[in-house]
Amino acid sequence: MLALQAAAYPPAFHEARATFAALLALYPAGCLGIFATDEPRRRLCGYAFAHPAHCSAVPPSLHSDDHDWSSGSAHGTSALHYCFYVHDVAVDPVSRGRGLATSLLQALAGTAAHPVLMLTAVLGAARFWERFGFKLVADLDAAALARLETYPGALTPSAAVPRPVVMAAQAAAVLAALHLR
Ligand SMILES: CC(C)(COP(=O)(O)OP(=O)(O)OC[C@H]1O[C@@H](n2cnc3c(N)ncnc32)[C@H](O)[C@@H]1OP(=O)(O)O)[C@@H](O)C(=O)NCCC(=O)NCCS
Repeated sequence: MLALQAAAYPPAFHEARATFAALLALYPAGCLGIFATDEPRRRLCGYAFAHPAHCSAVPPSLHSDDHDWSSGSAHGTSALHYCFYVHDVAVDPVSRGRGLATSLLQALAGTAAHPVLMLTAVLGAARFWERFGFKLVADLDAAALARLETYPGALTPSAAVPRPVVMAAQAAAVLAALHLR
């Protein structure tokens, strides 16, 4: 996974092994991998991580030991304050363009722990997410905006590392968009 991350992202985006371990512990059902079965060693071609989250905790820090993204239990709390946060979707560059990320998104949207999906689009991936109905979230609170500013490209966007943006979609709308493709 760390090797795939290194191939998929520039170093400024790399998350620690402990972060992936925390995501696995937090919500195992939201951790997905796609493997090549036609190779002697089943190579990991793509992965996705998602988990229920408190919306005001979105986006999470990329480089911190604070892995408490769920901010408590979603049970018994207003649905408006929770979402299914897609922390990461990455595909090995040699496996791109074959629909792997689309399949990962379909699996996540089909089993989402909450009707609203949220994510932080980086590296210009907003156009990818828009294809599936994700829209920019304009009304981030001050804490979320401050967190977003810690992401690469937030303060000094460039062609190589554009500004990150928070996006959201209804899981049902994503599934409908996928169905039409
Ligand atoms: C974005 C990413 C996950 C897409 O993976 P993938 O498996 O190649 O995606 P798919 O094959 O499912 O692509 C489906 C379509 O989206 C398009 N697409 C892929 N990446 C895109 C992008 N960044 N912007 C716009 N469209 C994109 C593809 O061209 C393809 O179009 P087509 O169906 O018309 O041919 C992959 O490029 C990646 O890992 N990038 C680096 C990590 C990253 O940015 N992750 C997203 C973080 S928010």
